[in-house]
Amino acid sequence: MIDGRTSHAAVVRAFSGQRPEDPETRPVWFMRQAGRSLPEYRATRAGVAMLDACLDPALASEITLQPVRRHGVDAGIFFSDIVVPLRLAGVAVDIVPGTGPVFEHPVRTADDVARLAPLDPDALAPVTEGVALTVAELGSTPLLGFAGAPFTLASYLVEGGPSKDQLRARTLMHADPGTWQALMDWCADVTGAFLRAQVLAGTSAVQLFDSWAGALSLADYEAHVAPASRRALSHVADLDVPVVHFGTGTGELLVAMRDVGADVVGVDHRIPLDEANRRLGGRTPLQGNIDPAYLDAPWPVLEAHVRDVIRRGGDAPAHVLNLGHGVPPATDPEVLTRIVRVAHGEDVRA
Ligand code: CP3
Repeated sequence: MIDGRTSHAAVVRAFSGQRPEDPETRPVWFMRQAGRSLPEYRATRAGVAMLDACLDPALASEITLQPVRRHGVDAGIFFSDIVVPLRLAGVAVDIVPGTGPVFEHPVRTADDVARLAPLDPDALAPVTEGVALTVAELGSTPLLGFAGAPFTLASYLVEGGPSKDQLRARTLMHADPGTWQALMDWCADVTGAFLRAQVLAGTSAVQLFDSWAGALSLADYEAHVAPASRRALSHVADLDVPVVHFGTGTGELLVAMRDVGADVVGVDHRIPLDEANRRLGGRTPLQGNIDPAYLDAPWPVLEAHVRDVIRRGGDAPAHVLNLGHGVPPATDPEVLTRIVRVAHGEDVRA
């Protein structure tokens, strides 16, 4: 929760709609900032399976701190994964390197959904411990918690793994709306409990990732998805903590995604921030949206893009600089450090 140590931090202030004193500067962090782009991450993770690392509090904490130390970003994001609470609720899921989450038994029928067990809050102890250790190390730098939104989780459960267009999940939504709703409600409560545990253990803000919501029409989002996302966020509604809501390809959904209970909207690279701000009526802080494709471009090209993102973000009530999606594994970490220095108004030469 926001407490004395982090309430004046630049990220927390921006999430609450306050502009920076210097309009050219921005608070900044990167989605997937902890990960394979960092040699120290690869060394720490060597020989440890992804989900085992997530459930080892000391390891998860160390990995969370690595990009904060290296880049000087304005926030840490707790090292975990959107499928961690599913594993803790007894779902057989693994994260396969280079592929993503893979499920032993896809969830496709009313019986499959009925077999899903509720999440025992005690099972979240490794997450709570990891967050508490990290918050103690970070001091005045805020730690962000996160969770997957019900639609993105349900997509993985129904498909049994990654999918381009979430076709099976979207078919279930229409073919058997009752089963779909039961699945979404289960996902909402499991992911909501995961969020709540992180906030109670000390995170200063949270982000709900609906990474695949861009596969949906606005009508389907509003009818079949938004109620469950609202239900997930209701688990932290009584806690004093800003909520960021992010998805990719969600230019048509920005207003609907805010209106499920978010304070800040995360925008991917497909829509400029000034246009996103216009669509949101000029009253919602934004986060984003450096196109990850620029990270491997010559520095002057990338720098011009970063400055353009900062300029367009200046239209919004407040703006936290980030990428439009996660850091690609092959990114040169030095480039991320330079972006942080630009955001902080330091003189950066190639
Ligand atoms: O730094 C951070 O952003 C915090 C950690 C974080 C991870 N996953 C660690 C991770 C966060 C916030 C996530 C969220 C997540 N996980 C999402 C939503 C965000 C997004 O990217 O859209 C999704 C869809 C997942 C599911 C998932 N987990 C995928 C698609 C993958 C990638 C598979 C691969 O190997 O390319 C994972 C694995 C994963 N989660 C890694 C990390 C650092 C890579 C694991 C490794 O190092 O081998």
